[in-house]
Amino acid sequence: MSSDALTLTRPDDWHLHVRDGAAMAAVVPHTARQFGRAIIMPNLRPPVTTAAQALDYRARIQATVPAGVDFQPLMVLYLTDNTPPEEVARARAAGVVAFKLYPAGATTNSDAGVTDIRKCYATLEAMQREGLLLLVHGEVTDPAVDVFDREAVYIDQVLIPLRRDFPGLKIVFEHITTKEAAEYVAAADALTGATITAHHLLYNRNAIFTGGLRPHYYCLPVLKRELHREALVKAATSGSPKFFLGTDSAPHPAHLKEHAAACAGCYTALHAMELYAQAFDRAGALDRLEGFASFYGADFYGLPRNAGTITLKREAWTLPESLAFGDAQLKPLGAGETLDWRFVG
Ligand code: NCD
Ligand code: ZN
Repeated sequence: MSSDALTLTRPDDWHLHVRDGAAMAAVVPHTARQFGRAIIMPNLRPPVTTAAQALDYRARIQATVPAGVDFQPLMVLYLTDNTPPEEVARARAAGVVAFKLYPAGATTNSDAGVTDIRKCYATLEAMQREGLLLLVHGEVTDPAVDVFDREAVYIDQVLIPLRRDFPGLKIVFEHITTKEAAEYVAAADALTGATITAHHLLYNRNAIFTGGLRPHYYCLPVLKRELHREALVKAATSGSPKFFLGTDSAPHPAHLKEHAAACAGCYTALHAMELYAQAFDRAGALDRLEGFASFYGADFYGLPRNAGTITLKREAWTLPESLAFGDAQLKPLGAGETLDWRFVG
């Protein structure tokens, strides 16, 4: 493989927020340009909790995909304490591929989330039976637990018992951020996978505090210390099919990021593959990028790999300072900075 150009099977984004309305219309074309498919997170207000709502949302997303671009949104329902088990069969019939488990209050628009996983057991049984995946935001919400420890504590308190009680359920531990999570997934059975964001591969928590408080580096789960970033890079570049690409690109208007109570979320859909290429390049593992970005997620979900290809070039380019986002502005992560890789189509 030439070191200045990289051609990969068209990748997929297994964790993405696109919002709705004019904001959605501003961001979907960025993802559709780079990725064949994306797992669409259901944390709208109100959340996407029924198959009927997912079908409507999918149609609204499809209407924002530029003509001639082949992009498929993969829909997910938001699991609540009250999701009826019968919704699972309706979801499957509608082409919904997964449910998302947000612990109530863990992150943006998660108030309707699950207060106690035991309330969902009948629905989880139906998911296991019907072959739908469970996507987990793995952080405890107990205010007594330090923010930086919430993911590691979640593994012991929730994930290990959940896996024991549902041995046949496919579970994706979303946007893992710690050494503990990477080790847990690496050692788990074949039905347990994890997504890793580009920002957690590139940055540690110092990024939030360098030269002042930097809200554009604030996301959930929050960036961790360097040893965790190193463990994530090791996992992503290991060639293990349990780890795959999920940007967690989460756009918020710039004025709500640059705010006394800054919203959590980094916008990376504009330059996702460039960021991942940078992370893999720095690790000397560009040859492992295609498996992580284009193969392992599709294989885990039981979907075919994409047919086309994309190309990245080693070519410096400078990120715009901001983008239009409905009536507001949107700042891509690293706005104004120069990247080493460029997506060329
Ligand atoms: C996400 C959002 O803004 O919807 N924010 C984030 O920091 N990742 C929610 C989430 O995935 O936790
Ligand atoms: Zn997310």
